[in-house]
Amino acid sequence: MNQHARIDSVPFIDVAAQRRRLGKRIDDAIARVTEHCQFINGPEIGELERALADFCGARHAIGVASGTDALVLVLMAKGIGRGDAVICPSFTYAASPEAVALVGATPVFCEVDEKTFNIDPAGIERAVMAAKRAGLAPKALMTVDLFGLPADYEAINPVAGKLGLYVIDDAAQAFGAAAKGRKLGTLAPATTTSFFPAKPLGCYGDGGAVFTDDDALAETLRSLRNHGQGTDRYDNVRIGMTGRLDTIQAAVLIEKLKIFPEEIVARERIARRYNAALADVVTVPHLSNEHTCVWAQYTIRVSGGRRDALAATLRAQGIPTAQYYPVPSHRQGAYRDYPVTDGGLAVTEKLAGEVISLPMHAYLDEATQDRIITAVRGALR
Ligand SMILES: Cc1ncc(COP(=O)(O)O)c(C=O)c1O
Repeated sequence: MNQHARIDSVPFIDVAAQRRRLGKRIDDAIARVTEHCQFINGPEIGELERALADFCGARHAIGVASGTDALVLVLMAKGIGRGDAVICPSFTYAASPEAVALVGATPVFCEVDEKTFNIDPAGIERAVMAAKRAGLAPKALMTVDLFGLPADYEAINPVAGKLGLYVIDDAAQAFGAAAKGRKLGTLAPATTTSFFPAKPLGCYGDGGAVFTDDDALAETLRSLRNHGQGTDRYDNVRIGMTGRLDTIQAAVLIEKLKIFPEEIVARERIARRYNAALADVVTVPHLSNEHTCVWAQYTIRVSGGRRDALAATLRAQGIPTAQYYPVPSHRQGAYRDYPVTDGGLAVTEKLAGEVISLPMHAYLDEATQDRIITAVRGALR
C-alpha cells in the first residue's frame, strides 16, 4: 500500500485555467483563419493592431514576431549599430541586451532601484560616462518594466532628454500596466512587448508588438518587419527581416485582449493579498497607488541565504517557485565583456541573490493562495 499522501502540484502560471474559460472562443477564432487561409498579414492583424492601440492609447501598434524582434526592429529603425551604446539594466531577461548586441551596438549596464527592481534614474548619467570612456556614442536608453511594474518615466524621460538618449521601453513583462492613468505604450517614444504564452497577455506561440505615436517610425517598422518592403512586395527599400506576427496568433490575441482588463484586476487583487499575508516574514514587492502593475511575476526577497531552502520546502509541498534572475546579465558568459556603469552594480548583485517568485496568475483561487502563504510562512518560521 502506498503510504505517501499524494500532493497536488500548484501550477506556477496556469495557462490551462484561462483555456478552460476561453477555449471555444479561441478555437473558433483559429478556425476562421484556417478557413480564410491568410496565414500571413490576414485581416486579424489589422483588427488586433487597432484593438491594441485603442487599449493602450498609442497611435500605432505594430504586430511583430516576438518581443525580441520588437526590440531589434526599433533599434534597426533608429539606425543604432556599431559604435553606439544602449544603456540598459543588467537585472533583466537576456533578450534586452541581446537585441542591442544583435544590431551590432554595445549594451552598457546600469543600476536598478532596490525597491522597484527598475532602472534607477539617478544612475543613468554614470552609465553614459562609462559608455563614453569605452569610446562609444551613447544613443539610447532601454528601460525595462520588470515583473509588470512601469519604470519611473517621470524621472527617466527628462534625464534621457538631457543626455540625448532615445528611450525604448521594453515592456515585454508589463503591457497593460499604467503610471498615473497612462498606459505603457505611451510613456516612451517607442514601447515593445512580448506575447510569449506565459506573459500577462500571451498568445499560443511567439508574438510581440511595438507601440508608438511616431508616424514615420511606424511606417519604417511596418517595412522592416516585411523585408524592408516599399510600395509593393518586390520593392525593397531597406534591409529588413521576417518579423511579422502570424495571423493565427493575432486571432488568439483578439479574444484574449477582451478579458485582459478583468485579468489585470484579478492579478492586482491576488498580489495585494500576498503582500498583506507575507509582509512580516519577507520583503514583499512594492505597491503603489500611482502605478498599476500587471504582475508578470510576484517576486519576494529572502535574505541571509534562505532562498534555496525556501524553494526546496515549497517544492516538497508541490509548490513551484522561480528565480528571476539569479545571474544578472553582466555576469552571463555572453555579456560579461560589455561595459558596466561607473560604481558597479551592487544593488543588482544583491537582488540576484535574494529574489524568488511565487505562483501568480489571474486564476489563482484563494484556497490555493492560502496554501502557498501557509507554506511560505511555515518555511521561514
Ligand atoms: C524583459 C524582456 N524583454 C524581452 C523579452 C523577449 O520576448 P520574446 O520571448 O517574445 O522574444 C522578454 C521575454 O521573456 C522579457 O522578459
